[in-house]
Amino acid sequence: MNSPARQFGEVILKLENISLAFGGVKALTDISFDVREHEIRAIIGPNGAGKSSMLNVINGVYQPQQGRITYRGETRHHMEPHFAAANGISRTFQSLALFKGMSVLDNLLAGRNLMIRTNILLQALRVGPALREEVHHRRRVEEIIDFLEIQHVRKTPVGRLPYGLQKRVDLGRALAAEPKVLLLDEPTEGIQPSIVDQIEDIIIGFKQSRRFAIVLVEQGLHFAARLADRYVVMAKGTVVAAGKTSELSAEEVRQHLTV
Ligand SMILES: Nc1ncnc2c1ncn2[C@@H]1O[C@H](COP(=O)(O)OP(=O)(O)O)[C@@H](O)[C@H]1O
Ligand SMILES: [Mg+2]
Repeated sequence: MNSPARQFGEVILKLENISLAFGGVKALTDISFDVREHEIRAIIGPNGAGKSSMLNVINGVYQPQQGRITYRGETRHHMEPHFAAANGISRTFQSLALFKGMSVLDNLLAGRNLMIRTNILLQALRVGPALREEVHHRRRVEEIIDFLEIQHVRKTPVGRLPYGLQKRVDLGRALAAEPKVLLLDEPTEGIQPSIVDQIEDIIIGFKQSRRFAIVLVEQGLHFAARLADRYVVMAKGTVVAAGKTSELSAEEVRQHLTV
């Protein structure tokens, strides 16, 4: 009853023997791991370990020279960015990629754009199905704004917000795309400890919603170990350890923190 399969559902994403090089630089060497529905899988490792490159392989921005990627039952050599984005792979960025001049609300609506089905002409005229769809999208975006507690800045241009709030908007933009797999690239990087707690609460909320799986990239072990069901430790482009966070011993924590 308590097997991981029961607890977290089926494997939704599987990486097998992924290798990626840039010229002579080996960014990833023979990486394999999987992610189950509704779980949080952490990727932990120091700067330069290959964590962001791994996320870029998952969302198709980087195409590895070797390996296979299986997403929702379909296996391919590499992901295409548009396919990934349109099929539920959504991410936040280590260096934020928001439209700084646009409001919080418009950034979230932009995050939803891939889901908008009716044609551009109907949208421009704001009639019939397009109008109903727009009402639906706005309602969902408002729900996300409430959940992230950013109502007070919903009309503010993102560039004017403090960094910690921008991180929250970036989470909102990724969430607005209704992900099946949400990729979080160092969501706590560069923010104050009090805001780290807020980000932690938000990620706990994501997990409790059981709407999607999360791949959580972090440099430090502690934040990730508190939230993740399973972890992968990366160093120099390879996986050096993997397992359930509930089974991490103090000794292993010490060991992994020094890799
Ligand atoms: N677009 C790129 N071109 C060349 N080298 C890259 C590129 N992206 C990443 N790398 C290299 O791959 C390695 C891993 O980087 P990265 O994935 O950013 O690590 P991390 O996110 O763990 O800090 C580094 O040596 C980095 O310089
Ligand atoms: Mg990185």
